[in-house]
Amino acid sequence: MLIKRRHGWELPEAKATPESHYLQRRELVRSMGLGMAAGAAAMALPATAFAQAKAADPSAGLYPAKRNDKYGVPAPMTAEKLATTYNNFYEFGTDKSIWRDAQKLEVRPWTIKVDGMVEKPFEIGIDDLLAKVQLEERVYRHRCVETWSMIVPWSGFPVRALVELCKPLGGAKFVVMKTLSKPSVMREQRDLLYPWPYVEGLAMDEAMNDLAFIATGLYGKPIHKQNGAPLRLVAPWKYGFKNVKSIVSVEFTDKRPVSFWEKLQASEYGFWANVNPQVPHPRWSQATEKPLGSDERIPTQLYNGYAEFVSSLYADRKAEKLFM
Ligand code: MTE
Repeated sequence: MLIKRRHGWELPEAKATPESHYLQRRELVRSMGLGMAAGAAAMALPATAFAQAKAADPSAGLYPAKRNDKYGVPAPMTAEKLATTYNNFYEFGTDKSIWRDAQKLEVRPWTIKVDGMVEKPFEIGIDDLLAKVQLEERVYRHRCVETWSMIVPWSGFPVRALVELCKPLGGAKFVVMKTLSKPSVMREQRDLLYPWPYVEGLAMDEAMNDLAFIATGLYGKPIHKQNGAPLRLVAPWKYGFKNVKSIVSVEFTDKRPVSFWEKLQASEYGFWANVNPQVPHPRWSQATEKPLGSDERIPTQLYNGYAEFVSSLYADRKAEKLFM
């Protein structure tokens, strides 16, 4: 995300190159080395690796989830390496290569606080939440407002399932989600020029739309820390900045929230943020996009290709700034 009034850290999209693959190669070489040194014991490595993964994340056994292809299976799928090394997670830094720093994020224990206009506020741990929902996999397009895009397989559950669990009151009009605050680990949160924590929201009818998704997994595994572990929003018809990561708070309200980017630069980023190739960002065109890993730009689609599922949500909202 590029903000006009800021300098120094602004990184033109064209200069933001995908993370080099060197570290992953190093990890591969290291694990191969370990395996060879251990001789016959190397045979047991996969089981050990699985046990370690499970200890680090007790949800590891829930993936891969069964695929739901009701909303299509767009192609070509973005390589996992790209989608997990080219990220926006400003809490860890303002460039795309924050994935190493994001490994410092501890995702257990993880508690989500539910409050605001609900029958009864409560807190729930991520694994208790996972036990209450049915996980599925959906392959969605993702379109960043900066004009890069990707196609990835999220695992998770509809936002609707979360809303139903929260039991909002009839007067609730919006659901607001916030990212963890932890400046000791999320070093950019020490920069108080930003309106931390990262906040985003959906109108209740958007949240209840079947496309709106909470991702807890990615590429058939628990979601990577840099992609928003242990849970993040995925609203694929909107610009990527709506998809708040590492959620610790779900609040219901009758007032439209002011989201993180809107607070920073309301003239450029709004609440609705629906993808529309015909409505340029004040500083660049939104007509095309560059899929991660590709040199070609492709046309951007209205509602990021999901118009048939979501355009009716906006029939009575024509007076709103729907596309910023
Ligand atoms: N959530 C938090 N907490 N912090 C962020 O900086 N960036 C947003 C969104 N969610 C962001 C966030 C933006 S601009 C995009 S495009 C997507 O996350 C990127 O998600 P990805 O890194 O998994 O591709």
